[in-house]
Amino acid sequence: MSTAIPTTFLNIGSLELEKAGIKPDALRGETAVVTGGASNIGLGYARSLAGAGANVVVADLNAEAGAETERVINEENGRDCALFVKTDITKEEDIGNLAAKAIGKFGKVDILINNAMNMRLNGKILESPIGDLDQSYAISGRGVALAIKAFVPAMRERKHGIVTYSATQFHYAPPMVGGTVYCAGKAAATSVVMSVANELGPYKETGVSVFCLCPAGVMRFDASKMPPPPPPKPGEPEMPKFDFEAFAKMMTTPEQNGAAMIFSLLRAGELHGSGVIHNDVFKAMGYPFSDPKPVEIPGAPQYRRLTDQELTMVFCYMGAGFAG
Ligand SMILES: NC(=O)c1ccc[n+]([C@@H]2O[C@H](COP(=O)([O-])OP(=O)(O)OC[C@H]3O[C@@H](n4cnc5c(N)ncnc54)[C@H](O)[C@@H]3O)[C@@H](O)[C@H]2O)c1
Repeated sequence: MSTAIPTTFLNIGSLELEKAGIKPDALRGETAVVTGGASNIGLGYARSLAGAGANVVVADLNAEAGAETERVINEENGRDCALFVKTDITKEEDIGNLAAKAIGKFGKVDILINNAMNMRLNGKILESPIGDLDQSYAISGRGVALAIKAFVPAMRERKHGIVTYSATQFHYAPPMVGGTVYCAGKAAATSVVMSVANELGPYKETGVSVFCLCPAGVMRFDASKMPPPPPPKPGEPEMPKFDFEAFAKMMTTPEQNGAAMIFSLLRAGELHGSGVIHNDVFKAMGYPFSDPKPVEIPGAPQYRRLTDQELTMVFCYMGAGFAG
């Protein structure tokens, strides 16, 4: 693998696999499908998978970023290990086409990473058109189920496979986290994924592991380029200035999360039927990453850390995770 980062319009940095002790052949011979693999977290996953020796199929709506992802991954690895297939995961015929192209090129699919989401579907139930909720469920419930139905039967037959889902720890919308439309869709998909883990049964019998991996604050952005708050509407108070520098410090990078994904895939048997949050994976890896403590953002309302009891109400915390 070449160490230089290819020149590209994609927002990428150096992979973090070596720092996490992951070898370039850790996943050699495996083929992974990453939905939403042409941006941010999915892009970090796709590049890290190839960096760990896997073949990778990127399924995304965005044709321009997807084609560039394929080009970048092939250049980075010096081998024909990436394939982009333009896919709307909510459409059955697109998923059929994805499966046919993936198997046509690489012969099999061993790993399915359900990661696509439209992050703009982030409004409040009371204020959003009902179509937003339909779309959130379509991507996060139907799309995930379609992909599982397309790829898991062959994994079960071969007694070899992993399915993960980019979940969120928030299955209802607490303050400061995001809209209800988003959280409702994420909860639906987590329910699908965790239920499929149970439908399949114990990993030691099936060889297929199904688990959730919750990213937390993954974004690379240049705080100095963020716009000032919009002027207040007549009669409304001025918005407090948001401290983007402090916010940027709370974020982790797609490459760090890519390393966390590979680390988790290599321990998939332990994780079947459970969920784990990336920050805990960083800790389990002994990764050189500062403890992600909540940072006070001047001028922003303070958010509240959820208690353990609240967290156990979230499906993906019901499993053992990395607990001994
Ligand atoms: N960013 C975070 O901090 C964070 C935290 C928790 C969970 N997540 C989850 O991680 C996943 C990735 O988040 P991100 O920040 O990288 O999002 P992103 O918006 O950067 O990327 C999502 C990708 O999904 C693609 N996509 C959208 N709809 C699609 C469809 N119907 N079919 C195929 N592709 C489609 C988009 O084109 C895009 O490339 C999401 O599922 C998100 O809910 C993210």
